Amino acid sequence: MKGVVLAGGLGKRLEPLTRVTNKHLLPVYNQPMIYYPVKTLISAGIREILIVTGGNNAGDFLRLLGNGEDFGIKAIQYVYQKGERGIADALKLAENFVGREKFIVILGDNVLDQSIKPYADQFNRQNEGARILIKKVPNPERFGVVQLKDKKIISIVEKPKRPLSDYIVTGVYMYDHQVFDFIRQLKPSARGEFEITDVNNMYLEKHQLHYNVLKGSWTDCGIFDSLYRANVIMAKQHFGENG
Ligand code: DAU
Repeated sequence: MKGVVLAGGLGKRLEPLTRVTNKHLLPVYNQPMIYYPVKTLISAGIREILIVTGGNNAGDFLRLLGNGEDFGIKAIQYVYQKGERGIADALKLAENFVGREKFIVILGDNVLDQSIKPYADQFNRQNEGARILIKKVPNPERFGVVQLKDKKIISIVEKPKRPLSDYIVTGVYMYDHQVFDFIRQLKPSARGEFEITDVNNMYLEKHQLHYNVLKGSWTDCGIFDSLYRANVIMAKQHFGENG
């Protein structure tokens, strides 16, 4: 299986940290942020990764990550997203790279302290469709919120003012090739972006959206509080490993 890391966007909510560099190159404890999603994909057994990035610092990703040798993998490739038109807009650039195979995509600012292999294995056994990883959080209104009934997802709403649950969609998505057809059908949202939540809802309509509740710690790094939390999670993991 191949993997995709989405590392475009402007990271505006982290100004001035992101004025002269890309959000995903900022440090999280002892590593550049992008290392964590790359390693999360590797934890699933993935050995070929595409990085989608944009903006003024795209070349820095190449200098930092090279061809993947430091990570012991087969290859890292790169594509450039022009503009910041949303997660689904970035993902569509992965079509040539993944072809008709199933694949895993992770947002470049998502930090997990655990392997996703158990979930990837379940996805591998799935004949078709998608699988998302969800998580209970104290501030669901910042995310795509999942409404569950009898353990089934009944809706996903992007950043609702009044969330109907505490469960949110993390930035780890597992898709089959249908995802690219769904993306082609998308219209920009009120905030002018092509939303990944709309894609997930298309799978949901076809009864092809599966999920796991993510165990362990997870955060994005989109705002100062969550970037700080990511540092704490990774420092704890580091000291846990090193006594
Ligand atoms: O982290 C999980 C959340 O990520 C989900 O719960 C939401 O449903 C999903 O929409 C997303 O929300 P955010 O508001 O946090 O997304 P953000 O715009 O911060 O983008 C997250 C990452 O996606 C970013 O670190 C890089 C990538 N991205 C984003 C945009 C807008 C791109 O590669 N290109 C883009 O144009």
